[in-house]
Amino acid sequence: DDEDSSIKLKKGDQSGTRILVLGRAHRIRKQKDVIFVELKDGYGKMQCVFAGDVAKTYDAITLTQETSMKIYGELHEVPAGATAPLGRELHVDYFWIDPAWKAPGGDDALSTRVAPDADPNTKLNLRHLTLRGDTASSILLVRDSVEFAFNSTYKELRMRKVSPPALVQTQVEGGATLFEFQYYDEKAYLTQSSQLYLETCLPSMGNVYCIEKSFRAEKSLTRRHLSEYTHVEAELDFITFNELLDHLEYVMCTVLKKVMDEPETAAIIKKLNPSFELPQQPFMRMKYTEAIDWLVKHEILTDEGKPHEFGDDIAEAAERKMTDAINKPIFLTHFPAPIKSFYMQKDAEDDRVTESVDCLMPGVGEIVGGSMRMYDYAELMQAYKNSDIDPEPYYWYTDQRRYGSSPHGGYGLGLERFLAWLCNQHTVRDTCLYPRYMNRCTP
Ligand code: 4AD
Ligand code: MG
Repeated sequence: DDEDSSIKLKKGDQSGTRILVLGRAHRIRKQKDVIFVELKDGYGKMQCVFAGDVAKTYDAITLTQETSMKIYGELHEVPAGATAPLGRELHVDYFWIDPAWKAPGGDDALSTRVAPDADPNTKLNLRHLTLRGDTASSILLVRDSVEFAFNSTYKELRMRKVSPPALVQTQVEGGATLFEFQYYDEKAYLTQSSQLYLETCLPSMGNVYCIEKSFRAEKSLTRRHLSEYTHVEAELDFITFNELLDHLEYVMCTVLKKVMDEPETAAIIKKLNPSFELPQQPFMRMKYTEAIDWLVKHEILTDEGKPHEFGDDIAEAAERKMTDAINKPIFLTHFPAPIKSFYMQKDAEDDRVTESVDCLMPGVGEIVGGSMRMYDYAELMQAYKNSDIDPEPYYWYTDQRRYGSSPHGGYGLGLERFLAWLCNQHTVRDTCLYPRYMNRCTP
């Protein structure tokens, strides 16, 4: 049966047993009388040795990379000095290739079309084939583990998963990056964040989270911006800002521990990111004003070439220079209200700044944005005004401040950025299945 033929499930088989495996020819090495085929399925690889009559058949001689095969053979330990996945190889006595299973050779062969030195655009157009490579697929395996670890960590914290709508009529993070579309006779947007909806769930569901897509019409091409990304968002009721920071640190570190406790995932991470170590706790906590001082002291200028001043947005380049120099995770807190979103709670001790946090990671910069939320009705009404937002479409959000308001807060973590940091990838385009960014919506 299907399960029994998975290469991975054959790990426990004893030498000498005859088995059946199904998979694709990942690598083919032809010698004079012997053909070595590294067979691969989504669970593992197995070296298959074609010798004697089976090596002389037409299908063996003309075998092309990615061709699917059904193979019978006997398992053997690999000879001393040789290596093979699992330390075993299969001595093939019979194999079968359905005519429809054959992959093209020549100019159409996979390794020709997505050669390692192919230009990035070609690789992206052929993402469906690039994914068959070892690196691309191993990042997606890490991604699967990370998502699972977030779910299990939140479950342990008794948090409830909900699924907010993607089609909305409100913005969260400013009008500039909204994808607008015609929704029957009305105007609507693709959601920028599920935060506002998570807030509405607190009274009935308790602390909640979601792992959903968010959409941003980013008009620049950077290595960390996508137009569609996966957003891990959480919202917690009756908490303080410091409790929010502690929770965020706990979740991130627990997820990393879980992932590194899985041997298969840990091995991939070690390979992609050899110097990776679990981050030291507690994370460095740095106020926005301290960051401005740091940037001034280290003569890192704004994008306009001026020294940083209180009130300036810390742009991507400056943020990365600082994070790389400090070279460990940073919780950057207390941003000035005017450069942050309308809903952020002001700091009780200094109302120029908000109870906000960005988590910065070396190599990537910001991977999390979070804050306490304004919970006073009158303050929120004023905040809409300050940000030039028509409060009407937000009636359901505003109502949370009328029916049993509470101090609460939350955050959003960009999964692709988290993975770019964890797997030491230059760009978030390599940490999602099919990246979407300006001028790319295919495949
Ligand atoms: O900082 P942002 O815009 O915050 C929010 O959306 C909050 N409403 C989240 C919340 O509190 N529930 O986005 C949060 C994170 C960023 O730190 C970044 O990791 C990621 O989302 N992100 C992107 N990732 C890839 N491509 C983009 N265009 C992204 N924009 C934000
Ligand atoms: Mg942000």
